Amino acid sequence: LKLYQKQGVLKNKHVVISAGGTIEPIDPVRYISNRSSGKMGYALAKAAAEQGAQVTLVSASTTLPDPIGIKTIHIQSAQDLSKQMIATLPTADVIIMAAAVSDYRVGEPAVNKLKKQASGELTLTLVENPDILAQLGAMKKEQYLVGFAAETQNLLAYAQTKLVKKNADMLIANDVSKHQVGFGYDTNQVTILTKDQEPEVLPLQDKLSIARKIMQKISEVIN
Ligand code: CTP
Ligand code: CA
Repeated sequence: LKLYQKQGVLKNKHVVISAGGTIEPIDPVRYISNRSSGKMGYALAKAAAEQGAQVTLVSASTTLPDPIGIKTIHIQSAQDLSKQMIATLPTADVIIMAAAVSDYRVGEPAVNKLKKQASGELTLTLVENPDILAQLGAMKKEQYLVGFAAETQNLLAYAQTKLVKKNADMLIANDVSKHQVGFGYDTNQVTILTKDQEPEVLPLQDKLSIARKIMQKISEVIN
């Protein structure tokens, strides 16, 4: 890794990547999460390190081991992820929000383990989480900000709207309704959207290959 860092196209760049699915507590033993495996974010961290970057990986829930030689910070909830990403923003050159952030959290998680309700039903009140990508988009200065969009319909239109609304510089769109694409799989099929270039459609391939292409494209625009 040290050797890479002396020569790659991302040398002297600090790349911060969030990965995995956030965990939102319901009570001390239960939580709300999602199907993110963390594979795409971890692949991006590896690809950035290969290209010489100093990498900080901010990891929500995943079963993947910490990548060797990469500073990995573990968080759980969207609120904690937000704090961590905002804390790393000032020293970052590139920020990639690959984490699947829960849009909502339980407003008031129970302090004690919930008991079965006599009524036969349980109502949880959910409140909206901060939109971290949008927060970073509003705060960023020179940083290059990358987001993802997981859609099951109207892929490019929805992704384009997210790019603009959140003030990101690049958005990686993936259609998660397709087989072998996105959540949980080792492969992905993405379209790369940027503010000033035509969308680039990448063929279905393994996540590390995609990660290398994304990091390559980022290094071209920031250097
Ligand atoms: N994101 C975020 N904070 C949130 C929700 C999403 O930072 N609270 C980020 C994700 O990490 C991703 C991008 O925003 O990089 C798009 O996430 P996505 O779930 O596709 O979009 P949302 O804006 O949440 O819209 P919706 O779920 O309604 O499609
Ligand atoms: Ca969402």
